[in-house]
Order: sequence, then structure tokens, then C-alpha cells
Amino acid sequence: MMDLFEKCRSFQDAKTLMGAGLYPFFKPIEASQGSTVTTHGTKRVMIGSNNYLGLTHHPRVMAAAKRAIDEFGTGCTGSRFLNGNLVSHERLEESLAKFLGKEACLVFSTGFLANQGSLSCLVGRNDAILSDRENHASIIEGTRLAVGETIRFPHNDMDALDRILTEKRAQYDGVLIVADGVFSMSGEIVDLPGLVKIASKHNCKLYIDDAHSLGVLGELGRGTGAHFGLTDEVDLIMGTFSKSFASIGGFIAGDADTIHYIKHKARPFMFSAAMPPSAVATVQECLNVIHEEPQIFDNLWKNARKMKRELSGLGFDTLASQTPIIPVVIGDDVKAFSFTKALYEHGVFATPVVSPAVPAGMALIRTSYMATHTEDDLDYVAEVFKKLGKQFGLIR
Ligand SMILES: Cc1ncc(COP(=O)(O)O)c(C=O)c1O
Repeated sequence: MMDLFEKCRSFQDAKTLMGAGLYPFFKPIEASQGSTVTTHGTKRVMIGSNNYLGLTHHPRVMAAAKRAIDEFGTGCTGSRFLNGNLVSHERLEESLAKFLGKEACLVFSTGFLANQGSLSCLVGRNDAILSDRENHASIIEGTRLAVGETIRFPHNDMDALDRILTEKRAQYDGVLIVADGVFSMSGEIVDLPGLVKIASKHNCKLYIDDAHSLGVLGELGRGTGAHFGLTDEVDLIMGTFSKSFASIGGFIAGDADTIHYIKHKARPFMFSAAMPPSAVATVQECLNVIHEEPQIFDNLWKNARKMKRELSGLGFDTLASQTPIIPVVIGDDVKAFSFTKALYEHGVFATPVVSPAVPAGMALIRTSYMATHTEDDLDYVAEVFKKLGKQFGLIR
């Protein structure tokens, strides 16, 4: 017999890193100006967020959130299913459906729950999910909850996906192909035309997680489908409000019957408290700002292109990034922790990604850029990377 908590006492990974002064996580932010944050009393350039459009600090967005508190209070204190459904939740769903070009939309309290809830209720005992190997953890959790079979296919590999379906499609009733629109660590865009072709060939439905594509890809940031002109071919679009939409919450959008079904079957939707009023108002106002100030997309892409040019030009390996997420490959995990610490000491807030999230020896710093970073912010970041890259023997 063993004490249940023995594994907690013997868990030393994080404590070892803390002891070595290399622990890079849970840094308490004392103040935030969006593209800069204050931690440990010092202002640092933030290149570790998902705040692509910088809307967390937009005056109109902040004012809308404050007004919603005056109107509805601070929380819904229950599930939308029962006592927590606000007119503003429903208005937001209508706005999002229109924005995305889908019939209907359902808003969840987080993107994690949107993936978990939608995947688990759609995929029954005789169905299967084909999931890209680099999909987000919340998709993996959704596939674990689903009673049908899950097959993970090699990352963005259309030939492999086609082979698997040719061999196995006949074994299942329904099949759902699931992939991130933009992969969150590499910044790479999914081969959506390839997925659409395969889904049609094998009579599968297609589900795209647009967490990192919304506000980034396509006209006005409508996402991966819009980017490729294939919105109608994506059966379900999932997204989150914790990135470009400057808040918290998530959604699933698609045809009216499927969304109605998810609304009445997804337990993470039905049995978790509703997204708070201030968060709903934040997202609604972000949509207004996006329509009225489309120049923010020019700023975002100008900044993203500049940093891809700068970092690759310095000689760093930035993988196949095509978006404002730009990974910088460092190598082994300890080196990545040391590099992150050095960045921090030089006034740059970034986070490392180590194994098993990436293959061993491929630890990286995930950098990401915002519409609101200034030219000075970015020049400074590039300067620091140049200095440390040489110091760590990563560039010449
Ligand atoms: C690709 C992807 N999907 C889903 C989520 C979950 O979203 P949320 O933060 O709203 O729970 C994330 C968040 O990190 C993500 O990166």
C-alpha cells in the first residue's frame, strides 16, 4: 500500500529548476500595459502572449467591459443552461456566426471547454476522430472524453491521412478530422486545401481550431477558412476569446442543427458557469473595433514580418512559422531555460517550450508579436536576441 500523496512529495522536476534559479513559469505580473508588463519591479517587453491585436488595453474595449459590470454585475453564478444565460451571450453568438459566415454559434466559458465539450458529444461509439499530432491539449482532452476511436495522424501530412482513411474509413460510421488552423508552437498554417480534399474524398466532417487564426488570418481576421477561401468547406470552426479577442471564453460555430445538438449534449457547456458579462462585452466590442479600425491588421503583420526577417536574418532557426507566432529553436531544455532567464534579465518576457511539448533537443522560445508593439520594442528585442544568440553560441 502506498500513500496517495507520495508522488507529490517525490515530484522534484520543478523544484530542481527552482533551486537552479531557472524556473521560467508563473511569473507574477504586477502591472500590464499590453505590449509591456511589469514584473519584479521592472518593465519588460512582452513577447510571450497571445494578445495579437493588443485589444486588452483598447480604451473602447476596456470601457465596454466596465459598462457590462454596471449592467449585469461581475458574474453569472451558474450555467447558461439554467440561470446564467444573458441576452449579451446570445447577441454575441449571432455576431460571431455572421462574422465567421456560419449559421449558428455557441459560446462556452473557455476554449478548452469548447473543444472538450464539442468533440466528446459529437463522436459516438461507432465514430472516429482523426487528429493532427500537433493539435492543442484541449483537443486531446476532447478526444479522450469521446467514446469513439481516436487516430492521430502525422503532423500536417496529407498523404499519411489519406492512407489511414483509405485503410480504415469503412470501419466507422462518422469520421471527424480535427486540426489547429495555426499550430500554437510553430506558428505554421494547416494545409486546409489538403484537408478539405481528403475530407470530401472519404466522406468525413472537418473541424478546425482557429484559436490562433482568429484576428490573424483572413479578411478582418475571420480565420483559416477565410484565409484560403474555404469557409463553407470547414464544417465546424472552434475558437477562443483568450487571444485576439482579449478576454476569456470560447465558441463552436457551424450549421444550426449541429450547434443546437452540442448546446443540449455537451456536458462541459451545460455544467459549467457561463462566461462573465464583462468578458462577453469585451469580445463584442473587439468585433466592433476590428470592423472600424482594420489598420490594426496592417500593424500586426508589419510587426510579425519584421521579426521573422530580423530573427531569421540573425541566423536563428524559426521553423516554418508563417504567422505572428515565431519560434526560436534553442536545442536542449536546460539551454532553453537559461536563454529564457537571460532574456528576462535583459527586459524581455518570453516563455520556453521544452520536451515533451516539442521533440527532445528541439526546445524553443515561443515568441509572438502584437499589433501594438512599437518599432522601439521590436528593435530592442532583436538587439537582445542578437547579443544572447552569440553568447549562447546559437548564431555567429
Ligand atoms: C489551439 C488552442 N486551442 C484551444 C485553446 C484553449 O483555449 P482557452 O485558453 O480559451 O481555454 C488554446 C489555448 O491555449 C489553444 O492554443
